[in-house]
Amino acid sequence: MCGIVGYIGDKRAADILVNGLKRLEYRGYDSAGIALVNGELDVLKKEGKVSALAELLGEKMPSGSIGIGHTRWATHGAPNDVNAHPHVSQSGAFALVHNGIIENYDTIRERLEEKGYTFASETDTEVLANLIEDVQRSTGLPLPEAVRQALTQVSGTYGIAIVSEEDPDMIIAARKGSPLILGVGDGEYFLGSDAAPIVEHTRKVVYLNDGELVVIRRAGYEVRTIQNVKLEKEVHELEWDLERIEKQGYEHFMLKEIMEQPDALEDCLRGRVRLGQNIINLGGLIDVMDRLANADRIVIAACGTSWHAGLVGEYLIEQFTRVPVEVEYASEFRYRKPILRENDVVIVISQSGETADTLAAVREAQQQGVLVLGICNTVGSTIARETDAGVYLHVGPEIGVASTKAFSAQVLVLAMLALKMAKLRETISDDEMSECLRSLVQIPQKVRQILEQAPVIEGIAQAYRYASNFLYLGRGYNFPVALEGALKLKEISYIHAEGYPAAEMKHGPIALIDHFMPVVFIAMNDSTYNKVVSNIEEVVARKGTVIAITDNGESLNRLCEFVIRVPETHEYLTPLLTVVPLQLLAYYIAVMRGCDVDQPRNLAKSVTVE
Ligand code: AGP
Repeated sequence: MCGIVGYIGDKRAADILVNGLKRLEYRGYDSAGIALVNGELDVLKKEGKVSALAELLGEKMPSGSIGIGHTRWATHGAPNDVNAHPHVSQSGAFALVHNGIIENYDTIRERLEEKGYTFASETDTEVLANLIEDVQRSTGLPLPEAVRQALTQVSGTYGIAIVSEEDPDMIIAARKGSPLILGVGDGEYFLGSDAAPIVEHTRKVVYLNDGELVVIRRAGYEVRTIQNVKLEKEVHELEWDLERIEKQGYEHFMLKEIMEQPDALEDCLRGRVRLGQNIINLGGLIDVMDRLANADRIVIAACGTSWHAGLVGEYLIEQFTRVPVEVEYASEFRYRKPILRENDVVIVISQSGETADTLAAVREAQQQGVLVLGICNTVGSTIARETDAGVYLHVGPEIGVASTKAFSAQVLVLAMLALKMAKLRETISDDEMSECLRSLVQIPQKVRQILEQAPVIEGIAQAYRYASNFLYLGRGYNFPVALEGALKLKEISYIHAEGYPAAEMKHGPIALIDHFMPVVFIAMNDSTYNKVVSNIEEVVARKGTVIAITDNGESLNRLCEFVIRVPETHEYLTPLLTVVPLQLLAYYIAVMRGCDVDQPRNLAKSVTVE
């Protein structure tokens, strides 16, 4: 979703801003722009990619050592040059970029129109710019103070950055509901909606919290609350490094992230499993582990792929601990007045740690006084900071919009969590535990073996690249994997795909089966294997074409067009293996269809608006 970048120092700001915007491309956007202060205010913006903006800037980049930039993901008004950010206040005195949504923008706009303000765009952002100007005009306050007062009049969410023609030594930034990070350099400062545009310049960062405003000058910065209380902020060290946000020779980030899963899973396991002693160490949960282990019920809230990981978590936690688990879409949980009791524990799962609905679920649960835990990838993200405790995935930044390595690591963390709880609740024997852990640590190597089959899967993709529909079917632990496989395909190739529990096929989807309908079955040799094979027979009898993911010998060859074999493992770990061929299949089909794999249309990496 929208991205913000800012720079103040002594270097040419335009270079840093355009480069920063490129780093933010992965978030999803449809226009880009920058504002520089260089004697006057220079605003350049363009519909389309950052490359189109760079072209507009031309060979001779504008000079100026202070500026802000933005990638916009349209909410209010079409994606075009006029609606692109930055927006300039009516007098042209300052420019503003904005992430989030000002919910009461229409009433503010009417009020301002009555006072004679006119608007060039359809955006809520231009309304905010003129509101700030109006406050400044009517009060005569300095700009930072006018910004602060204007922000008390708006409802909704914002991450904003402002530069002013009158003060070439100041960026003002503020946040509520949309993340902002201040990068602290040597005599220079950087601003980012995440760490991507900052990390190549400095690893020292200050995370702004909701309701905070910062005034940044070359000589230093000052953070205040919107209520005007001065704050001393801690400077953190970024865990990201530049190498991890570059493609390193891969054609796409998504492929890189699929291929690095064995290493990512090893990183996620590192220091957490002690085989000989049957110990699982989840440091972030030490203080709450007893409460978690003694929970009466666990509610998991998440969105998209993270929700699918949550569904696997339900199977895991219920199997190993017998504690009832409910998995909720965070967007539903937040509004349906969920009933939570004292000994319930809410676990939220979010790769980005910034998803608006998931964050709202955290706040709803906290308001009801229950323990809220987070499973996040992005260190220092809002959800990671606002939850009572949690576990990081430690798989490095995920840039491809389609989540891959984060899903695998989320499932791995949930598996460790389930086993840890089982040990504390004494619902697992020592022998069973050591067998489970032995299988767990073998997973990265088994994923490596699957990835070696990438050329074979590419061949299968070739056969199906023109399909219009796909069905994905699996049971038990692999039902959520079927959902995830279907989501991967639809989000990057735009092929319609649905996932179902295999047995549900007879209750409706079977009507769709004909020789144009490829059906992907996950048929692992577990308690339901024979039943899944019967479902395959039913599809074949109706001339459907079947691709099977299995750990079973040759028996499926007779029935299936293609069989992708994965190594055997303990049933509870099978999602970590079966998801990998599905990621690759979706990837190759999308590439063959000429789709923009890393930035699929209309999608955003972190969905920071409702
Ligand atoms: C995954 O491929 C999707 N792009 C999307 O469903 C994503 O998982 C969802 O938006 C949740 O994001 P989060 O994990 O960052 O909260």
